[in-house]
Amino acid sequence: MTENIFVAVAWPYANGHLHLGHIAGCYLPADIFARYHRIFGNNVLMVSGSDCHGTPVTLRAESEGKSPYEVAQKYHSSFVDSWNGLGIGFDLFTTTMTENHRLTTQEIFTTLYSKGYIYSDKMKVAYSPDFDRFLPDRYVTGTCPHCSNLWARGDQCDECGQTLDPVELINPIYFNDGKEYLIEIRDEEHLFLRLSAFENDLLNWIHDKDYWRSNVRNFTRGFLEGGLKDRAITRDIDWGIPVPLDGFEKKRIYVWFEAVIGYLSASKEWAQKKGTPDAWRVFWEDPSTLPYYFIGKDNIPFHTIIWPAIIRGFGDFNLPYDVPANEFLSLEGKQLSTSRNWAVWVPDYLEKFSPDPLRYVLASNMPEHGDADFSWREFVRRNNDELVATYGNLVNRVLNMLQRSFGGIVPDYQDNDHEGNEIRILADQTLKKVGENIYNCHFREALNQGAMSLASRTNKYLEQKAPWKTAKTDIDATAVTLTNALYVLATLKTVMYPFLPFSSRKLHEMLGFQDNMEENGWKINCPKPGTKLPIPVPLFDKLDESSLEI
Ligand code: MF3
Ligand code: ZN
Repeated sequence: MTENIFVAVAWPYANGHLHLGHIAGCYLPADIFARYHRIFGNNVLMVSGSDCHGTPVTLRAESEGKSPYEVAQKYHSSFVDSWNGLGIGFDLFTTTMTENHRLTTQEIFTTLYSKGYIYSDKMKVAYSPDFDRFLPDRYVTGTCPHCSNLWARGDQCDECGQTLDPVELINPIYFNDGKEYLIEIRDEEHLFLRLSAFENDLLNWIHDKDYWRSNVRNFTRGFLEGGLKDRAITRDIDWGIPVPLDGFEKKRIYVWFEAVIGYLSASKEWAQKKGTPDAWRVFWEDPSTLPYYFIGKDNIPFHTIIWPAIIRGFGDFNLPYDVPANEFLSLEGKQLSTSRNWAVWVPDYLEKFSPDPLRYVLASNMPEHGDADFSWREFVRRNNDELVATYGNLVNRVLNMLQRSFGGIVPDYQDNDHEGNEIRILADQTLKKVGENIYNCHFREALNQGAMSLASRTNKYLEQKAPWKTAKTDIDATAVTLTNALYVLATLKTVMYPFLPFSSRKLHEMLGFQDNMEENGWKINCPKPGTKLPIPVPLFDKLDESSLEI
């Protein structure tokens, strides 16, 4: 039965290039998952876009001396280049600056307002007397009231993950041009989302989510059990989506409130662009659709509480089925930091290396159940020892021997032996196991214990059978060994495809196929006896440490 799979991926702030933390955190797992479901034959929609509004972008614009619009455009196009370079295959990657997104956001806003889920009230806001302006959350820093982190931002504490309001901070300050300014707290009329109305509903909803990752489930449960507080969803800023109510002309809708709505507006835009304007509906209205939200752990409350509350308040759309949030990636043992420029930027990586080695290293060490570290030394080692020496070498040995001993024509064979049967059974099991693991978002296991271990096991099989020796003495036995190994290559081509799409396509061609790898199906599609195979080329390149001066 074909399933409808909606793959929603966090919208990166358009205020800096992407780095490896973003990729390992949500874009790579989402892409692996979507590729698997597509090649399996399911109906997939994968969307995201640039998160262009709010203080993350205005702060950057101030520091670059550009307009927020210019900054957002610049990084949006950098993101699109990165997706192309890394093979992250969105059905649509849009921005929050579209007319469609504004209309969708304002429609939801107005509906919630008319249902009483949005109301107006006085709020204490940070104000700078020195600059005569209100200060939106990210402009304010101070001590976190939950964990005492001295450098919490006004919207969220990076240490404990709690979402914050600037007035909750202890000793709030405004930094401008390296100087500290004191803050005054003033009363202002703002609009609030009545989150408290959804507490029971959401508690019931997460009740059966025992299949969620434990960090996501525990965080969400803790958040709900602490009691849901209503939250302001307007801000004193001029960059963002206008509030569709009289009296709020100078304010804008809070960036988090509208960014999550992007999942819906992007689905509509995708359907519109395809010329089937209603095609988005199945992903949002059919109760059998499975919506997955791929995000980093700092985004959990927005996706398991705030967005579900907005959806419920608005109507009957599907809630997330799963939110497989990843933990953090560190670089050479230290926390990634954009402000301290401690990161590997995707555009820099792509200038020097091809995408599959990075996809391999990040997927096999993905921060699924705990933080993980990326180091360049490890990157080179795993490229050389695993991609080149285990997988690539297997492929080249088998294909070269087929050229040498059989003129590149896939031989026919009659009887298999015990070891040969075993290796074929292992291949069949691997196909099944990798599929199940990806389906359950266990990406590391799928790659390491599944795909890669089939490759190592088959290298051992070849050592044992030594077809390079038997070629001179027993051509039939050699044919048996090599056709078994070919069966494994046909398996690897498929099971590696979600992880390493570029090299799988290459292997697909080297196995004599002329159609697209995407048409292969989640199956072992072995070239038939008599097929003429092309001359093989290496799947991966060896790297040496000197290539690391990036
Ligand atoms: N821009 C946010 C971040 O980088 C993520 C937004 S996800 C969305 O942390 F769903 F709200 F768009
Ligand atoms: Zn904190």
